[in-house]
Amino acid sequence: MPNNTNETLLRVEHLCQFFGPVKAVNDVSFDIKRGEVFGLVGESGCGKTTTGRSIIRIYNITSGSIYFKGQRICAGTLSYENAIREARKALRAATSPEEKERLRKTIEENRAAIRSAKHDHKHSDEDYAKGLVAHLEKERDEALAKAGADAVAIRKEYAEKIRIAKKTRLITNIQMIFQDPVASLNPRMTVREIIAEGLIIQGVRDQKYIDEKVYEILELVGLTRDHAGRYPHEFSGGQKQRIGIARSVIMQPDMLIADEPVSALDVSIQAQVINLLGDLRDRLGLTILFIAHDLSVVKYFSDRIGVMYYGEMVELATSDELFAHPLHPYTRSLLSSIPLPDPRTEKKRTRITYNRLAEHDYSVDKPSLREVAPGHFVQCNDAEFARYQAKLKEQA
Ligand SMILES: Nc1ncnc2c1ncn2[C@@H]1O[C@H](COP(=O)(O)OP(=O)(O)O)[C@@H](O)[C@H]1O
Ligand SMILES: [Mg+2]
Repeated sequence: MPNNTNETLLRVEHLCQFFGPVKAVNDVSFDIKRGEVFGLVGESGCGKTTTGRSIIRIYNITSGSIYFKGQRICAGTLSYENAIREARKALRAATSPEEKERLRKTIEENRAAIRSAKHDHKHSDEDYAKGLVAHLEKERDEALAKAGADAVAIRKEYAEKIRIAKKTRLITNIQMIFQDPVASLNPRMTVREIIAEGLIIQGVRDQKYIDEKVYEILELVGLTRDHAGRYPHEFSGGQKQRIGIARSVIMQPDMLIADEPVSALDVSIQAQVINLLGDLRDRLGLTILFIAHDLSVVKYFSDRIGVMYYGEMVELATSDELFAHPLHPYTRSLLSSIPLPDPRTEKKRTRITYNRLAEHDYSVDKPSLREVAPGHFVQCNDAEFARYQAKLKEQA
């Protein structure tokens, strides 16, 4: 798999997204390396889409931090607010001056964390654009310093690049494609307008450049330039999803979040669209967060897989490890629901149902996500941790 930089492109830390009493995402952490395909799997309603939408900043997240290219792009404050509340409570009961001093310091630190979270959430795009502009200015000055440089041409070229960089938002580096290609394409716009929209918003004005880009991207996703003047309703489901992919890819993102991109398509078309994504990943060096509700879709496509259940991450491992040594009972139940290609073994396949309350005793010994083997994380308590490790040893 093309993953030679080992750079962490996206890091999600203790993400919480609550909607009133609904904890749609509850303390989820994972990271994605550049060039990697990370599969996020779990049944409908477990919080996959909310995770994706939190990353592209559709919400003010409740708590936790999200970093992209090392820069914090999302930050919530609930954990800091809770820490302040706890410390205040302790302060009222505290007697020793040292204890009081320590608690006051905790409160001050968490207040600072809230200020910093609010700043990052608000200014990450600006900070990113500033960095891009500085980089381009340096490049321009180096070009100008070269012997025989055409100063007028260089200044003109960089003036345009810098104008666009100033408008660039970090978040356009992450593009999301959606489950329902029909609902996500404006029926009144031509394919050309749909695909070019992001470029125009970004401030690109050169119509010839835009047209060329649109044609190039259409061909890249397996359509033709003749399709540019048509409207979405003239296309099949699979073609519509290709248009959705084209609209994302034209922005030259580093990362794609593909939210169940094939769930609405005929089975015969699903493989084609997945192959297209794999192809784009190789050709453009894309990093992909691939969301699906069943494991069979992500198996061959993902380098690593995270399994979510009711807003929490219950298991995370490489794709091979997860299929060879699934440990969490929910992962095992998901695996047992994949039909087998051989009819004789398929007949004998037994489906495992998962019942959280029957499966675990978390009354005293509480669970957390722990590394049971290198790179293999499972949500478990002390007793289960020991049991899972023994099991892996047995299978080795
Ligand atoms: N905007 C919202 N307001 C209130 N509840 C929401 C909202 N979006 C999602 N939810 C709830 O959050 C939970 C997770 O939803 P979602 O992330 O869409 O799950 P998935 O994509 O895994 O099917 C569900 O219980 C859903 O009803
Ligand atoms: Mg969803």
